[in-house]
Amino acid sequence: MTTSAQSAPFPSVSVVVPTYREADNIPLLVDRIARMRDERHLDLELLIMDDDSNDGIEDVVRGLQRPWVRLTVRKENRGLGPAVVDGMRLARNDVLVCMDADLSHPPEAIPELLEALSQDYDFVIGSRYVQGGTTDERWSLFRRLNSRVATLLARPFTCANDPMSGFFALRRETFAAAQDLNPIGYKIGLELLVKSRCEFIKEVPIHFTDRRLGESKLTLAEQLRYLQHLRRLFIYRYGGWAHFSQFAVVGGLGTLVNLAVLTVLDLLNVPLAIAVAVAIFGAMVFNFALNRRFTFSYARQASLPRQFLGFAGASSVGALANYAVTLALIRQSAFLARLPQAAALFGIAAGMLINFGISRYLVFRKPRRPKPV
Ligand code: GDD
Ligand code: MN
Repeated sequence: MTTSAQSAPFPSVSVVVPTYREADNIPLLVDRIARMRDERHLDLELLIMDDDSNDGIEDVVRGLQRPWVRLTVRKENRGLGPAVVDGMRLARNDVLVCMDADLSHPPEAIPELLEALSQDYDFVIGSRYVQGGTTDERWSLFRRLNSRVATLLARPFTCANDPMSGFFALRRETFAAAQDLNPIGYKIGLELLVKSRCEFIKEVPIHFTDRRLGESKLTLAEQLRYLQHLRRLFIYRYGGWAHFSQFAVVGGLGTLVNLAVLTVLDLLNVPLAIAVAVAIFGAMVFNFALNRRFTFSYARQASLPRQFLGFAGASSVGALANYAVTLALIRQSAFLARLPQAAALFGIAAGMLINFGISRYLVFRKPRRPKPV
């Protein structure tokens, strides 16, 4: 024997493969994994996590007669992400590998992932976007761009070049230490990377082949779910700041609503005294709706009218200041009367200052120092 393969101290591996309508691909996948498994003398089990596809996958797996292949048919909490997490919980071996069933990911790269893990990396990605990695030549410009934008959006959470990859490996302890796993949608690798707080990430180049059999399940709805996933990761990672920054973004959008309403009403020759009031109120309703839906979505079960009254009450002094300043400026200056949007911006700034002042000096004022005795 000239190779070190036989003596290589490979850890035992559990390969987790989520499937939905992949019965045709399973024999090909298992064949390729079996060849690699024999060549490298790996202690490897394969967990197929099927979401009740009803495509005969049970018979297919039984027919293969490979005792190291285990099929689990899931009936609840469907989805790629939850299926992978469930599989990893069932896994018995030291290292967990996740990959797709459609042969997009080469099983032959698994030993390389294992080697990298044994060099003290915490998380190893079979990566399309490092030197030597490639995607199928038939990818359209749109698909390439789409993939790149999605990757870019994950930048605040990880330095990996291909955190979207569905082909990755991690130690079982790393997975066990991951807290608050909440996988929605496709980006289970990103979820694990962030929640297991992996620092040492290695990317092994792979060629991503397009599937030959079956269909992709990556729909537009799935892509939108990714945005929701990013928002959750943001809150997880940045805690209270995430609420504040969402509040600020909503406030910024509310400013645009205010200006838009004002512009339209002004064009319709509505008197400015009314237009400004309607614009401020419109922005207030808009801010309330968005803050209820996103920023403070944990409180969405509470009664809507009561919450709205609370919100309106809390912002009423600021809103009145906003109104007074905007109108005063419009009355003072002929220029601002022609450009009420500029006056409205000053009004909004004044409203914010007043709200801040009330909170700072009335609501949250410093306690008086007790007299020295
Ligand atoms: N259990 C389960 N439940 N499995 C699912 C589900 C589901 O709801 N949806 C998809 N799968 C399985 C598929 O059967 C396949 O094995 C794997 O998840 C990937 O699904 P595809 O539909 O082939 O996805 P893709 O090729 O568009 O996306 C792949 O590449 C992306 C990067 O371009 C995946 O690896 C993604 O995770 C990856 O981001
Ligand atoms: Mn695929």
